[in-house]
Amino acid sequence: MAHGLLKGKRGIISGALNEQSIAWKVAELAHAEGASIVLTNAPVAMRMGEINKLAEAIKAPVIGADATKDEDLEKLFTESKQHLGGQIDFVLHSIGMSPNVRKGRTYDDLNYEWYKQTLDISAMSFHRMLQASKKTDSLAEWSSVVALSYIAAQRVFPGYGDMADAKALLESIGRSWGYYLGMEKKVRVNTVSQSPTMTTAGSGIKGFGGFYGFAQEMSPLGNASAEACANYCITLFSDLTKYVTMQNLFHDGGFSSSGVTPQVMAHFSKEE
Ligand SMILES: NC(=O)c1ccc[n+]([C@@H]2O[C@H](COP(=O)([O-])OP(=O)(O)OC[C@H]3O[C@@H](n4cnc5c(N)ncnc54)[C@H](O)[C@@H]3O)[C@@H](O)[C@H]2O)c1
Repeated sequence: MAHGLLKGKRGIISGALNEQSIAWKVAELAHAEGASIVLTNAPVAMRMGEINKLAEAIKAPVIGADATKDEDLEKLFTESKQHLGGQIDFVLHSIGMSPNVRKGRTYDDLNYEWYKQTLDISAMSFHRMLQASKKTDSLAEWSSVVALSYIAAQRVFPGYGDMADAKALLESIGRSWGYYLGMEKKVRVNTVSQSPTMTTAGSGIKGFGGFYGFAQEMSPLGNASAEACANYCITLFSDLTKYVTMQNLFHDGGFSSSGVTPQVMAHFSKEE
């Protein structure tokens, strides 16, 4: 049920690759809540064509931008403002990719050129995005920016490889920009640390099924779905959370605060 939480707001949503993408769900929900949206993704992802289905359904243009290219990002903000008819009220950064993880290079055997790409695509792109928004004076006062993270920023999850470092950097970038943009024009910046979710990026992680099942059994509420994550993002874009900023917010069914659960213990208990 829609509540009109984003009525009249203008937003940019990155990272909708296919129906499983978290960004896809956020875009659908933001539209249902009354927002006007511009979708963006890397030109290579756009060629796969699925994003056009979403664009049509929510009447949003798609502006291609490689998130590692400053000129693409500046163009994205300039054209989005033109299309939407004013400054931007919310931005979703939903971008992640590690060539090392993709090609099976473990944390103790990284290819450093790929490592740089991981950090550039998955973390520095968030900095670039916000710097481009500042250069083009694109964010409205009291606007809200969210990037998606994962708990491997704080704890070791073998298999997540160099993405762990990218997420730690992403969360730090969110805090820092939260300060600068908050002081400048009351913009809030947060990262949402989401449960393992069955998407293209998620299932690219070696042993993802294990991650997913372990988190499911360790979380009192179970894993949060992509739809649930979208709901949470909408609250952060809405005016109901105007003083939440510079936070890494766990959206994980309680996983991050759980020590152990009976379900997990059962796997080790001799009486079973
Ligand atoms: N799936 C999970 O388990 C999970 C858990 C926590 C956080 N996250 C994070 O959520 C975000 C979205 O991932 P998802 O799970 O929806 O998967 P996804 O594969 O659907 O989305 C990743 C997106 O990043 C885009 N991208 C890659 N390189 C890019 C570039 N150079 N420029 C612009 N866009 C680029 C891809 O095209 C894709 O749309 C990522 O930051 C991911 O790390 C995912």
